[in-house]
Amino acid sequence: MAHHADEAARPRRFSAASALRGAIRVPGDKSISHRALMLSALCVGESRISGLLEGEDVLATAAAMRAMGATIKRGDDGVWTVHGVGVGGLMQPEQALDMGNSGTSTRLLMGLVASHPITAMFTGDASLSRRPMARVTDPLGEMGAEFGASPGGTLPLMVRGLQPAVPITYRLPVASAQVKSAILLAALNTPGTTTVIEPIPTRDHSERMLAGFGAPLTVETDPDGVRHISITGPCDLRAQDIIVPGDPSSAAFFIVAALIVPGSDLVIENVGMNVTRSGIVTVLEQMGGQIERLNERTVGGEPVADLRVRASALKGIAVDPAIVPSMVDEFPVFFIAAAMAQGTTVTSGLDELRVKESDRLATMARGLEAIGVVVEEREDGLVITGSGGAMLPGGGPVATLLDHRIAMSFAVAGLVSTSGVEVDDTRPIATSFPDFLALLDQVRGAGL
Ligand code: S3P
Repeated sequence: MAHHADEAARPRRFSAASALRGAIRVPGDKSISHRALMLSALCVGESRISGLLEGEDVLATAAAMRAMGATIKRGDDGVWTVHGVGVGGLMQPEQALDMGNSGTSTRLLMGLVASHPITAMFTGDASLSRRPMARVTDPLGEMGAEFGASPGGTLPLMVRGLQPAVPITYRLPVASAQVKSAILLAALNTPGTTTVIEPIPTRDHSERMLAGFGAPLTVETDPDGVRHISITGPCDLRAQDIIVPGDPSSAAFFIVAALIVPGSDLVIENVGMNVTRSGIVTVLEQMGGQIERLNERTVGGEPVADLRVRASALKGIAVDPAIVPSMVDEFPVFFIAAAMAQGTTVTSGLDELRVKESDRLATMARGLEAIGVVVEEREDGLVITGSGGAMLPGGGPVATLLDHRIAMSFAVAGLVSTSGVEVDDTRPIATSFPDFLALLDQVRGAGL
């Protein structure tokens, strides 16, 4: 796999923009793209995937599934074709699986390997090699898999799967769709019923797509709102044609940009609006953001809309911690919106942000300070004093720390800065949104 880490850092200064106008289309959803490749690779027969995100993280998943026996090709028309090996048919990879920067690839693939009679070594970049893996190795270990991890339980990490694995009932100790999904994927090749108990709802793309592929999946919600998600294995999956909707997490950068750059009126097409992902839109609306949902429809079993976003005077708020899981990846750019709001924005319950591609509370706090924003870093959130719509001073360089969403967030901040915002490295953007810089240039108008 080509690693951006192999080349020199690519710094860039982002300067003030005039109104953002026109219409853009965001690339395919990263979470759904990973799952589409993995489930297709577990079918016997051919699946076709349109709208797949062609970012480095998803390409790492494709490479891994190929290394375990699937045939995966991209057609000239951009449609991907997958010939799978069948549930139980994954082959032992000959080399280490290079996960690059991708936590989702790593944790979900560990689930797949865990219930197959194969051994795989997982490696990744410096960011991924710091991230906690015990959250998946604990439940997968209960199912019978064995692990050889680096000190601290991190990558590089070897997984030895067990067939037949042992079904478990597992209550998620952290609100994580990756942990939920790893267990559900392991369950596909595990005889008996495996149940994941989810006290706090997280993105449900795995459940939707597993059901679409014909897995015997049931979801029961008890009176307290706790979800019990069960799969009885081993089961076969039926090859599918899949359309991947646009990624709301990628759209978020342009939603915030259009809200804060004066005079903007931007349409962002093809945005996934699954309620387990759309918290950012809800919270920005609570702050006074004008976001209109047009052309609401269903794409690939997921709700989708085009969003018309107009520049708005935002007001600071206290973000309800209950909404955090549905906007967990959007906090970096949300903090930029908060920096432009009138008054103070208080966030809490964000402990998980400390174990993302970087420690996003610390990385955002240092970056905001570097561009002249008043910010207080707390253990589980940031408190940001907004400018009330005034331009931010700017400055930098901001340290990206191999985190794509930090780089894109400060690119957006640059659009409303007096002296520009210097981002130390834009290469990580390619993990999730390879066209981001081109789209930004397209909508940022004449003002440079
Ligand atoms: C993802 C789940 C979330 C999210 C990540 C993608 C997924 O991670 O932050 O970008 O596709 O399941 P957690 O499971 O760690 O919350």
